[in-house]
Amino acid sequence: MSSQDSAKKLPAAAPERLGVLLQGMGAVASTFVAGCIAARKGLGEPIGSLTQLAHIRLGKRTDNRNPLIRDFLPLTSLDGLVFGAWDIFGGSVFDACMTAEVLDERLIRKMEPELSAIKVMPGAFDPQYVTRLTPKYCKQGTRREMVESLRADIRKFKADNNLDRVVMINASSTEVYNDLCEIHQTLDAFEAALDADDHRIGPCMMYAYAALMEGVPYANGTPSWSTDVPAIRELAHKKALPIAGKDFKTGQTLMKTVLAPMFKARMLGVRGWFSTNILGNRDGEVLDDPGAFKAKEKTKLSVLDTILQPDEHPNLYGNLYHKVRINYYPPRGDAKEGWDNIDIFGWLGYPMQIKVDFLCRDSILAAPILLDLALLMDFAARAGLKGIQEWLSFYWKSPIAAPGLKPEHDLFIQLTKLKNNMRYLMGEDLITHLGNEYYEEREN
Ligand SMILES: NC(=O)c1ccc[n+]([C@@H]2O[C@H](COP(=O)([O-])OP(=O)(O)OC[C@H]3O[C@@H](n4cnc5c(N)ncnc54)[C@H](O)[C@@H]3O)[C@@H](O)[C@H]2O)c1
Repeated sequence: MSSQDSAKKLPAAAPERLGVLLQGMGAVASTFVAGCIAARKGLGEPIGSLTQLAHIRLGKRTDNRNPLIRDFLPLTSLDGLVFGAWDIFGGSVFDACMTAEVLDERLIRKMEPELSAIKVMPGAFDPQYVTRLTPKYCKQGTRREMVESLRADIRKFKADNNLDRVVMINASSTEVYNDLCEIHQTLDAFEAALDADDHRIGPCMMYAYAALMEGVPYANGTPSWSTDVPAIRELAHKKALPIAGKDFKTGQTLMKTVLAPMFKARMLGVRGWFSTNILGNRDGEVLDDPGAFKAKEKTKLSVLDTILQPDEHPNLYGNLYHKVRINYYPPRGDAKEGWDNIDIFGWLGYPMQIKVDFLCRDSILAAPILLDLALLMDFAARAGLKGIQEWLSFYWKSPIAAPGLKPEHDLFIQLTKLKNNMRYLMGEDLITHLGNEYYEEREN
């Protein structure tokens, strides 16, 4: 432990059991839950999860202290996770896995008793926000009544499972994009609008509000408005709870936030970046609606500007043409293809091209992110952190940041920030990568 931080209070011990509530039980959420259960039963490994597989260096390089993150931080083990969910189609996690067709049916059948036992709760829904789905199982009533019903669900989930601690993650369909207005700016205005059943409060905002009112940290894995609404931020501060978002960083954007920093680091110019996707899952169907695509387009487009800083380098990035497309193509199911054409230029302006063809699996890339977020959001709460968790930017396509601050998109800066925050919260020295001390010691 570093001397300057020796007085720092360490995060409270991890609970043996942690409740994970999922808003939406579709492809991503069911692959996450089934994957955790599979790992528990030794049927597979939680690949892609930093909390489970990554190590973290502590102290000097010569100290040889490099524990697994899960051994360094007080985190609940996979065995201690208890799952619950809402969806608008009813059924169980087993049904959701079978519908999503992400995992092999033989694997799903091996977990049938556990997956069938997790029945979803009826969702809080408004068809104006997700136009392509016809719900079968949702709450009735005004917005205030739906919020109260969500809060009652959270309390019941805690009581039924004898849980002290719960976190919530939004993995529901992307909602149609609308601009925020005055009812979203303060908590008072937001609550008055809830009472007035104002349609400008979308379902994702209702879930976030219900979670925070019940003392539950909330992370938004979708492009929909929720934790980035000023009234919700105000509530998170008032309740001293962590919030995070938004939109899981999985396939194409993950690539973008690795490649763009490389161009910038080498001072190579970028003239154009055309990104297109074909996918055939329910998410693709929902994003076929131009209103929902607008929300996704905003989170996907936000990445390049902050990495490349065209204001500082108008000659390299000032005229960058950035286009993002998503095409619903049912034959592909969850096996998305993300294709990028990048027009770059180098010495004396000579042009070059890069093509990326990422044959990925959307939910396979997203599932480990949900696991890490569930564990780290609870860790953040136990460490006394509240409001926006910028140190978790690593996981987001469009990380939310304090008003007036530009979010960090570069994956490797995000990773450094993530690990340094872990060190800091556990009272360890930060790693600066200066490295001079190794040479000074030898010379002495
Ligand atoms: N898979 C990825 O790589 C990835 C990456 C980033 C973000 N996302 C986002 O994660 C979300 C989930 O993706 P998915 O592939 O699982 O989609 P999906 O369509 O399979 O699952 C979404 C589920 O949410 C349910 N739902 C819709 N509105 C609801 C409501 N109001 N309350 C409760 N349930 C509701 C739907 O019935 C559906 O089962 C989407 O918004 C997607 O854009 C996914």
